[in-house]
Amino acid sequence: MKRPILLLLAAFMAAPTLVRADEGMWIPMLLGRNQAAMQRAGMHLSASDIYDVNHASLKDAVVLFAGGCTGEFISDEGLLLTNHHCGYGQIVKHSTVEHDYLTNGFWAMNRDQEIPCPGLTVVRLVRMEDVTTQVLANTDDQMTESEREATISANIEALTQKAVEGSHYKAVVKPFYYGNQYFMYINEVFTDVRLVGAPPSNIGKFGGDTDNWMWPRHTGDFSLFRVYAADGLPADFSKENTPYRPLQHLQISLKGINEGDFTFVFGYPGTTRRYVTHDAVNLAANIENPIRIALRDIRLAHYNAAMKQSPAQRLKYASRVAGIANGWKKWQGETLGIERLHGVEQKMQQEASFRRWAADKPQYRNVLDSLEAAYATLTDVEVERVYFNEALLASDFMNRALALWRLTRQNSDAAAQKLLADSRQYFADFSIHSPIDQAIFTETLVYAWQHGYAPYIDKKYTNAQTLTTYLNTIYTKSILNQPQKLEKLLTLPTEKRASRLATLLKNDPALILFHTAYSQVYSPEKNQSFSAANARISHLMRTYVRGMMEQFPDSNFFPDANLTLRVAYGHVQGFRPRDAVYYTPYSTIDGIMEKENPDIYDYRVEPRLKELYLHKDYGQYANSKGELPTCFIATNHTTGGNSGSPVLNADGQLIGINFDRCWEGTMSDLLFDPNYCRNISLDIRYCLFLIDKYAGATHLIQEMTIVK
Ligand code: ARG
Ligand code: GLU
Repeated sequence: MKRPILLLLAAFMAAPTLVRADEGMWIPMLLGRNQAAMQRAGMHLSASDIYDVNHASLKDAVVLFAGGCTGEFISDEGLLLTNHHCGYGQIVKHSTVEHDYLTNGFWAMNRDQEIPCPGLTVVRLVRMEDVTTQVLANTDDQMTESEREATISANIEALTQKAVEGSHYKAVVKPFYYGNQYFMYINEVFTDVRLVGAPPSNIGKFGGDTDNWMWPRHTGDFSLFRVYAADGLPADFSKENTPYRPLQHLQISLKGINEGDFTFVFGYPGTTRRYVTHDAVNLAANIENPIRIALRDIRLAHYNAAMKQSPAQRLKYASRVAGIANGWKKWQGETLGIERLHGVEQKMQQEASFRRWAADKPQYRNVLDSLEAAYATLTDVEVERVYFNEALLASDFMNRALALWRLTRQNSDAAAQKLLADSRQYFADFSIHSPIDQAIFTETLVYAWQHGYAPYIDKKYTNAQTLTTYLNTIYTKSILNQPQKLEKLLTLPTEKRASRLATLLKNDPALILFHTAYSQVYSPEKNQSFSAANARISHLMRTYVRGMMEQFPDSNFFPDANLTLRVAYGHVQGFRPRDAVYYTPYSTIDGIMEKENPDIYDYRVEPRLKELYLHKDYGQYANSKGELPTCFIATNHTTGGNSGSPVLNADGQLIGINFDRCWEGTMSDLLFDPNYCRNISLDIRYCLFLIDKYAGATHLIQEMTIVK
């Protein structure tokens, strides 16, 4: 569906402010500015119910989980809820053949059964503070970007040290609006975190990569942990530690949701790029995404074919494919979304209005021209790096070449040991893996070469056929594919290994290829021009964003996501993904049964779940129609990192756990469209049903505060 561009632009221009309805990820400390709008939208709370430093507030219940997800306290004994895909690493780590928690799920039936997870952290925000003046002290407009950076780093260092002196807190300072503002976060970091519960994969990951990024969805994407402390303070694991008592835990509502209900998401969104120029949007949507997608198509085709061969191979490649496919699918949605929105044209239009406004303002007049020039120098180097990562480094073969090449630079025993262990593991099923990896190695490189982005390939190869033959030779000749020789090299004494490595760097075709590629793509000149262009862009963006804020003084600009605590708000709402199709806002367990297919791995249904379904044994978790709701969508603006975030109702009670976005709206990291952008949440009633009815872990339900 393509709407006439002009009409769309006219609508955009008529908008009194820059930010659209429901767009935005707001700073909790400054939520007073949003309070009126949030209350108009239906919220019954005040801003200080959400963030307060003098009293316990909702923010005390929301944490950064494992450095990249969000979690929330749901009992006064430190019980913590997050996504299954956020706890995934821990669930896998504690799974063995005898105790396969990933496949069968895990439920601690008492505190002693809770599993310690060393290395896992949970971060609670104690308070935040605007430190712009202190951070920018002794900087001025005449400084170079690197002088400015150095001064800022020193200021931050001094500031954070002083802020936490004599306390157990940790301080971090983060830039906002491209460094026009800085906030300091005083945090408490918990390190005794234990696994309490996780549903089996065919519930927690139901639909797998087939349903990933999509609606309708039926994934039971949650897991449970518990935070322990010593006398209420963070401490490493010890048997003596006791469950942490959060200042506040979330109440859970069983009242459910209706289309149009107010909701908000409170969590740690990772990265958005809302204010970038048309060049950046074009680079992402029309240049980088298509390259990444095409190269991942190649990899996925081979892995998917292999996974169909046997259950063992499915297991072998499942998590690798999940990682590759997650970005691959998101970028496709993003590019389509930008196209649908005429995103590049929209940005150009907005830039034209900025230019008119800035015409008589010397400090802003040239900023867009300079940004265009900076992007012009950045693009080629940037694209070359995308090819390096997505093509040259697509195969395990070249990743092992990278590891070996590192050894030629720094011949450490530890690195040699690591490569030896990895290689032994690799050679254990070499015969299965090797043909797949060889095909990936040759096809991705040929693709890069055909598109003019493999300058490191010898000029004498003039067609794909001869290049493929050459790459196949490299693959078979290299020491990296000869177990005995490699084993011998890696077990040599340090000195001898060094001289052997030096010879290899001259003789081994894989090492030569990697070395040539790296030296070209990351040559000192290219590194220099890459960082200069980036420094220039960040400087100019700082000016441009400041200018836009002056241009639209009445607009409440939200700062781009930067993995700090934010509030997004909106409404439960369906949408029209395409002509004649309307997506209703919630799914039910009936949809799980509709999707059930024992022959398709992603759609196998857990027998016990089916039994409960057949008996309609939903307990108190059914809605007024007698259905068991599973997931719902809403207009909250979220991104990666918001996984596991609590989704709250007008009274601040927990109604869901955020875990994804709808594919049609994944361009929201760059441009938000209220007609298409939806976050996807697990309905808390399905989550509790699974804990209670499915797993029989009623002791966990009892420690929660449930509101009916
Ligand atoms: N799309 C979600 C996110 O970006 C879920 C990813 C994990 N699930 C999967 N099927 N790969 O994190
Ligand atoms: N699954 C994503 C997560 O990690 C959330 C989806 C999104 O990008 O919005 O964080």
